[in-house]
Amino acid sequence: MNRRSKPTKGESTSPNKKVNDLAPFREKSAEEFLTTNQGLRINDDQNSLKAGERGPSLLEDFLLREKITHFDHERIPERIVHARGEAAHGHFQVYESMAPYTKAKFLQDPTVKTPVFVRFSTVVGSRGSSDLARDVRGFAVKFYTEQGNYDLVGNNIPVFFIQDAVKFPDLVHAVKPEPHNEMPQAASAHDTFWDFISLMPESMHMIMWVMSDRAIPRSLRMMEGFGVHTFRLINAEGKSCFVKFHWKPMLGVHSVVWDEAQKISGKDPDFHRRDLWEAIENGDFPEWELGVQIVEEKDEHKFDFDLLDATKLIPEELVPVRRIGKMTLNRNPDNFFAETEQVAFNPGHVVPGIDLTNDPLLQGRLFSYTDTQLIRLGGPNSHEIPINRPVCPVHNTQRDGHMRQTINTGRVSYEPNSLGGNCPMQAKADMAGFVSHAQRMDGSKVRARSEKFFDHFSQAALFYQSQSEPEKAHLVNALRFELGKVEVAAIQERMIGMLAHVDRTLASRVAQGLGLAVPNKIEGPLNLSIPADGNAKEFQPKPVSKPVQPSAALSMANTIKDGIKTRKIAILAADGFDAAAFSAMKKALEAAGAQAKVVAPRLGQLKSSEGTEVKIDFSLLTASSVLFDAVYIPGGDSSVKALTANSDAVQFIGEAYKHCKAIAASGAAREFVNASCLEDDGVITGPDAEQGKIATAFIKAIAQHRYWNREMKDRAQ
Ligand code: HEM
Repeated sequence: MNRRSKPTKGESTSPNKKVNDLAPFREKSAEEFLTTNQGLRINDDQNSLKAGERGPSLLEDFLLREKITHFDHERIPERIVHARGEAAHGHFQVYESMAPYTKAKFLQDPTVKTPVFVRFSTVVGSRGSSDLARDVRGFAVKFYTEQGNYDLVGNNIPVFFIQDAVKFPDLVHAVKPEPHNEMPQAASAHDTFWDFISLMPESMHMIMWVMSDRAIPRSLRMMEGFGVHTFRLINAEGKSCFVKFHWKPMLGVHSVVWDEAQKISGKDPDFHRRDLWEAIENGDFPEWELGVQIVEEKDEHKFDFDLLDATKLIPEELVPVRRIGKMTLNRNPDNFFAETEQVAFNPGHVVPGIDLTNDPLLQGRLFSYTDTQLIRLGGPNSHEIPINRPVCPVHNTQRDGHMRQTINTGRVSYEPNSLGGNCPMQAKADMAGFVSHAQRMDGSKVRARSEKFFDHFSQAALFYQSQSEPEKAHLVNALRFELGKVEVAAIQERMIGMLAHVDRTLASRVAQGLGLAVPNKIEGPLNLSIPADGNAKEFQPKPVSKPVQPSAALSMANTIKDGIKTRKIAILAADGFDAAAFSAMKKALEAAGAQAKVVAPRLGQLKSSEGTEVKIDFSLLTASSVLFDAVYIPGGDSSVKALTANSDAVQFIGEAYKHCKAIAASGAAREFVNASCLEDDGVITGPDAEQGKIATAFIKAIAQHRYWNREMKDRAQ
């Protein structure tokens, strides 16, 4: 027997240095004997050692004890936030050298592919919660550069709820399930969250984003990412500029609707995880462009807001986003726990050429991540876990601790030393030694924020007013839903008051849905601040003082809608379907890069009217329209008759229509569709003879993503 294991995918042949780096740690059991952790071959893994066939188990049974003990310790604490996530390997390539701005080596050479590991996550829910919760998505990228690991630990929303890290535990306590009954799971629609928010005017900009459809993405592959904070870039001459990082998805930014999100949570709670996994397995590698907004140091104070305030963004109209490179994810992890669960990000993992700012939220994060990983990953050596190791050498005088893997040789574990030739030695800046930017500091030691931080509503108003009408309606409904779940009326009223500061129409639309009136004055206390003289003063936030200039980049209505690549289309059919229409449509959809899946009343093979057969991908029991982007029904009398009599099929079409999706039908199926759908944009029907025309129109319709005008027709606002 060949005792050597076969190489796994990507191993030794992969151009990705990190993928190769993981190779020695991959275990493959094919053609191997079962052993203990000590390598002892096991002869019987069915029975514990007993005193007689019917006797008690013996303490001596080290095989049983080893197996059960390991099992008993298989779980580690889940992340305190962002517990649910999924990840993938890939690489990043810069388009052209960024040397004028940064000396970071991975941003110099367009021919270099830097390995990355990217973990997406929800924030609030536990590890087993649904992907489709209304929530912020984490977008954490670990670049394995030749100068060490650089982590860009961002979100899919460019701003944050709070300005200072000292409020983070309060925010998280408020939004997590309530402490007395651990409800609700993975949801912000409850009293403690809105109680906190209604007392925190600085959260209002973020609330606009989280109540928008950005918080229910169609796919992780179709959402933006943001570094959120202002960072610094430093070039070889030591010149610094400010930078905001963006990830722009090549597939555009798309979302589902809230009713759909709730249904997906039941039908497939792994919807995003599955979508990412399948896309990579199918070779449809997700891609994002890295964008930067660069602000020269001299311009630091030219904005109405403070660059150090994480509740503000820089409108793209003021500073355009320059796309500087592309990230491609092309390999799923081999093992969820070893890679996705054990990966440890930290915004403080930087490389020469990238530096931090005094943003008080960022400053707190710099402490928090390593600190929490000490308990989550069990000690100070989590950087030695394969997924966390840099691809460049690590040498220092740190030693020992739980689960230490490195065998440091020699007597020297201190510096300076003469016994080891004073090695490992410090690196000068021109040898890629990290030098913190020498920012001049002058200030009193105070617990305070700069005045510009207190303009809490202008950018909230900017976001709301930049939305299209359907987006505004979704935002209003999200607030009605969330506040509708709040039991204490005073919290609802305080929130309406707060919304009135953002936009009076928004407040009154939400109030109408709750059966409330817009109050004249916000109920305090708001941002209770204690000035240096010790007298408590109630801070009243500044109203929006200038007319808002809407920003097109903030509305998803303006995203790319130029194709249907990777979209999942249901072909709904029963026995007796029209084979020619079916094949023509399937071919056209697949040629356009979509996935066409056959959904039928049962599983197995489906027979066409001509007797040919096709494989059924899903039965109506195992699929639902909410799991697809669009639906097509081919003609064929008996197929259409069977579907018309099937309430699940009728519901399938009805829901696709309600969720504003493209629907197409040909031949006899036209009547079936017309019975469930009003004649409308995005509903394409025609005779079998016009199959080519129908397919072209259908593909164009799917690319539009959704037909919101259907909602607007029956929406009484
Ligand atoms: C702009 C604001 C913030 C962003 C964009 C952000 C983003 C993220 C992301 C993406 C993760 C998941 C990392 C992963 O996939 O493993 C994460 C985890 C975490 N964040 Fe933040 N976060 C923010 C603010 C904060 C603040 C202010 C704190 C604390 C002061 C904090 C503490 C944590 C902790 C403790 C974890 C869990 C880390 C782990 O267990 O490995 N975050 N954050």
